Amino acid sequence: MIAAADEGASGGRRRVAIFTDETGWHTRKLRQALTRRGFEGRCVDLEQCRFDSGATPSGLVIPGFGRELPLAGIVRGIAGGSLEQITKRLGILHALRELGVPVYNDARAIERSVDKAMTSFLLHKAGVATPPSWALESEPQARRILMREASAGHSLVLKPMFGSQGKGLRRVGMVDGVSVPLPELAALGGLACLQRFVPQPESAAAPGFDWRVLVVGGRAIAAMKRVSPHWVRNVAQGARCVACALEPALARLAEGAAAALAMDYAGVDLVPDPGADCGAQVIEVNGVAAWRGLQRVTPFDIAQAIVDDLLQRRMGLPCAFEPTAAAEARVCQFGSGVTRSA
Ligand SMILES: Nc1ncnc2c1ncn2[C@@H]1O[C@H](COP(=O)(O)OP(=O)(O)O)[C@@H](O)[C@H]1O
Ligand SMILES: [Mg+2]
Repeated sequence: MIAAADEGASGGRRRVAIFTDETGWHTRKLRQALTRRGFEGRCVDLEQCRFDSGATPSGLVIPGFGRELPLAGIVRGIAGGSLEQITKRLGILHALRELGVPVYNDARAIERSVDKAMTSFLLHKAGVATPPSWALESEPQARRILMREASAGHSLVLKPMFGSQGKGLRRVGMVDGVSVPLPELAALGGLACLQRFVPQPESAAAPGFDWRVLVVGGRAIAAMKRVSPHWVRNVAQGARCVACALEPALARLAEGAAAALAMDYAGVDLVPDPGADCGAQVIEVNGVAAWRGLQRVTPFDIAQAIVDDLLQRRMGLPCAFEPTAAAEARVCQFGSGVTRSA
């Protein structure tokens, strides 16, 4: 077990906040993992948290924690809302950091990763292989980019800046021999968020795939292929999760992506690209990553790896337990199991 934490701040109840807008499989796994290490995981909806300068010494009210603060926070989900509501919810996470409470992932890392333009910028800046990308508000400029890319033989992926689960993506430019125009930017919130499409050979008999690699505490610990005949290969869009080995080059690329965004943990999406140095390009980095599909093809408890990294690396607790399977994952060759995510 983890050695006893400083219990003063929480009155002996070693409670960690799990920030989430819905409870279910992930929160249950995190709570179990915390319990195994002698902590209590308490689910809190950021919507219910508030700034209240008179109510508590910290000026924050976290339901379920009374006048106290959690020892740490794990961010599992932030509900959608108005710009003002999201700003306040992220503000609570920023405030916790300012008060010295470790938040996993930190609000700054979450902000970087939900903004696809910033993610691409930081990946480029860090020299991580990722397709060329653009975010701009001028329709004529966007059309010029599209034409220039098309004349070089590329199509582009138009993405919602804050999109997730493969929703709202479309290819524009020369798509399967047909010219697909850019929609009016007014219909896209006035912003064109574009990324060069990375094609891969595929057929009905051999559908293409992405990789999803989970990085925890700077180390890639698990990987799977997401296989689908459709070019959008999110599990939420019906892709199959297929176990795969975590090859060193893939692990290094995913670790570089997580480091570029300063993530405690990250779900990194990569597509194969024989033209890239390491054989793949990073498409996206998820700062509030789900891991249910990955867990089905991974032989160790991912939630435990996340919790142990939080306790050891972010909270500085001495580790007296056997290293989690995370440490062994590098040498783990997964079986060939195939599963479909819920
Ligand atoms: N530039 C691209 N080239 C090839 N496939 C892409 C590209 N961008 C997105 N995709 C496909 O669409 C999926 C979803 O895109 P992504 O940027 O990860 O958005 P989301 O946040 O919705 O998951 C990717 O996992 C990949 O299958
Ligand atoms: Mg993705």
